Amino acid sequence: MNTNIVWHQATVTRQRREQMNGHRGTILWFTGLSGAGKSTLAHATEERLHQMGARTFVFDGDNVRHGLCQDLGFSDDDRTENIRRIGEVAKLCLDAGLITMTAFISPFRKDRRRVREMAAKADFHEIYCHASLEVCEARDVKGLYKKARAGEIPEFTGISSPYEEPEHAELLVETGTRGVDECVDQVIAYLRDHGVLPASDDTADAKATAGQAPGAQAI
Ligand code: ADX
Repeated sequence: MNTNIVWHQATVTRQRREQMNGHRGTILWFTGLSGAGKSTLAHATEERLHQMGARTFVFDGDNVRHGLCQDLGFSDDDRTENIRRIGEVAKLCLDAGLITMTAFISPFRKDRRRVREMAAKADFHEIYCHASLEVCEARDVKGLYKKARAGEIPEFTGISSPYEEPEHAELLVETGTRGVDECVDQVIAYLRDHGVLPASDDTADAKATAGQAPGAQAI
């Protein structure tokens, strides 16, 4: 890193943003095989949170690879760099006070550990979207498993590139066997239990006190 750069401290702090939002900022790091349901769960959770009036954003593997990470492929090193970049962006979003959700296979434990260490313990939640390879392959929503089995996609996770299962995920969601709504309920309950969302409906009051226009449903 260049030594001639100095961090500029914002006056609008994370704490002030969180007060206005009526909830804490946090990182929900969804990990799992391709087709496990990471993006589906992250977006469905975002939809629920948005309707509650929460400030959210989802970073999705396929989408990010269209822009920010379009120079990266699927070698081990490129995946590592992909996850590093998203970790850094997620950290910025934490300062922005957002409930940030990332939906990346993030197959390597060392890479997930690295992004975990970028944030305070209370701010990072690894959510394992558990679906067996058999289930993901049977779904094959994008037709990629078929291509990978045919040898048309090298280094495909679960087939010719490893997926290292989380050993200490904060939350395990059975996305292979449970419905989306049930999985979202589980994530929302987790967020309330861990103080990201207030335990009760007093967020509307918190927002009114912070000067935010009422209208959003109580978080
Ligand atoms: S990661 O390994 O670097 O975390 P990321 O989540 O960004 O992967 O991208 C995974 C998505 O890219 C998959 O859902 C799939 O649609 C697509 N993809 C294309 N090639 C591969 C591959 N070789 N391995 C896994 N996913 C691939």
